[in-house]
Order: sequence, then C-alpha cells, then structure tokens
Amino acid sequence: MVDSGNRAVPAPKNTFDYDAELRHHHRRLREAIDLGPGDSVLDIGCGTGQLTREVAKVAHEGSTLGVDISPGMLTRARELSAAEDVRNVRFEQADAQVHPFPAEHFTRAVSRFGTMFFADPVAAFTNIGRALRPEAQLVQLVWQAGDRQEWVGTIRQALVGAPVAAPTGGAFSLADPADAKSVLTAAGFADVTVAEVHEPVYYGPDPAAGVDSVLALRMATELLAEFDADETERALDRLDAVMTAHCGTEGVWFDSRAWLITARR
Ligand SMILES: C[S@@+](CC[C@H](N)C(=O)[O-])C[C@H]1O[C@@H](n2cnc3c(N)ncnc32)[C@H](O)[C@@H]1O
Repeated sequence: MVDSGNRAVPAPKNTFDYDAELRHHHRRLREAIDLGPGDSVLDIGCGTGQLTREVAKVAHEGSTLGVDISPGMLTRARELSAAEDVRNVRFEQADAQVHPFPAEHFTRAVSRFGTMFFADPVAAFTNIGRALRPEAQLVQLVWQAGDRQEWVGTIRQALVGAPVAAPTGGAFSLADPADAKSVLTAAGFADVTVAEVHEPVYYGPDPAAGVDSVLALRMATELLAEFDADETERALDRLDAVMTAHCGTEGVWFDSRAWLITARR
C-alpha cells in the first residue's frame, strides 16, 4: 500500500509495462531503422532494452550497446538479454549527454522515447554525434505535445478531478518539430526528417489492470499523495471509470501521437 492522505492507495501489482504500452509505436520505429547484420548500434535511454535486444539480433555480426542512467532498468535489461541469450549486446549505466563514447564508433543510434530528458539537448546530441561514424543514421521516437495526448489529458484529469494544464518540458521537450530540427542541425546532424506516428497506447487487458498501470507511474503517486481519504477514493473511482470507458475487446487503449525523427551524422 502507498500512503496518501488518510487512505492507503493500493500499491501497483506490476511495474509499468512500456513494452506493452508502446507496441504499435515500437513496430513503426523498427520499420524505420535501416539495419544490417554488421551494424554497431547505440540505444539511447534503453530502459529495459526491448529495442536493444531486437536490434542486436538483427545486427548479429556487429554489436549493440544500450545506455541508461537508471540502474534498475539496466538490471532488468541484462536479465532479459540473458534469458533470450542475446550475446552481442551490452548495457552500460551512462548519461548519454556527457558519456565519453568511443569516437566515430557506431553505425546506427536509436531511441524509443529516451532522448527527451536532456538538460542541454544540443550538447547532448553533439556528444552522441561524436560517437557515430560519418553518414550513420539516428532514428528516435519522441512524444508530440502533451495537449495532443489523450493518455496524458484523460488520466491526469481523472486523477485531479478537473481539467489540468498539459505538461510541457520533460517527456515533451522535443515536441516542436522545428525545435527538434534546429537542435539536431546545431548538433551537426543533416537530412533531418520528422514524421507523425499516430498510434494508440495500451494500458492493460481490463479496467483494473489499467488502474494498476497508472498507479505504477510516479505522476499518479505524486498527485494522489496530495489527497485526503475522500479525495483519494473519488480519484480512484474516476480513474476506474475512465479505464472502463476506454476498454474494448482488445483491452484499454488511449490515443497518442509521437514524432519519428531521423537524421544522418
Ligand atoms: C520513457 S523511458 C524509455 C525507456 C525505453 N527506451 C523504452 O522505450 O522502454 C526513458 C528512459 O531514458 C532514460 N534516460 C533519461 N535521461 C537519460 C540520459 N541523460 N542518459 C541515458 N538515459 C537517460 C531513463 O532512465 C529511462 O529509462
């Protein structure tokens, strides 16, 4: 249980399952990565490494490095790689903004929502660019603006009980395509393209699983921590109602929009 005001919020049964949530985005990202058996790939903000493992399997004569700042994510990434016996993959705890990667080493850099959290994006992408060979491809997915995300607005409003201003910065810091292009150009990348990925995100097989997924998010625990017992109960009821409204035969889904950004070193 998680303490929230006078009432305990049920502790989530599972950690948030990004691989399930992002399954359609993942397919679109994979289709955009031009990968051969001999590629040497860097996965930025790799999390638990679904993308890292998959590219490593395709680039089976090359090698793949997944970097993330979160030790917990990397522990899980290593466990999953070992379970799948992926041998040409390595995971390293590193801040991609400043990590001293080997110069001109990688032939591809990829990221699934792992590049939006840089304090100085130009410096960070310049650092990543230095690690890429000339002409290497960078392919990343980033979120469009918070006010274009049904999953953001609907869930936050359910928790708070009133319309909430859309969040900016953080996960949405590369939401403006013109900004994202100028960041990458200033960091030395060329041929920048931005394409829309309009796909839904998945929150679980039924409303209870959807509520559980949300309770695993820090955003939810932070909002609920402000509430007393009655407010918490009402918030959980609203959340359940939203999950029920968004649940169909294929489970709970919300609309979402991302940008697929590609560039050449
Ligand atoms: C939204 S999660 C995405 C994780 C993974 N790519 C996925 O799709 O499941 C963002 C990840 O970026 C990582 N991250 C944030 N800032 C980073 C940085 N400066 N260097 C490396 N990883 C970073 C976080 O720890 C987190 O695991």
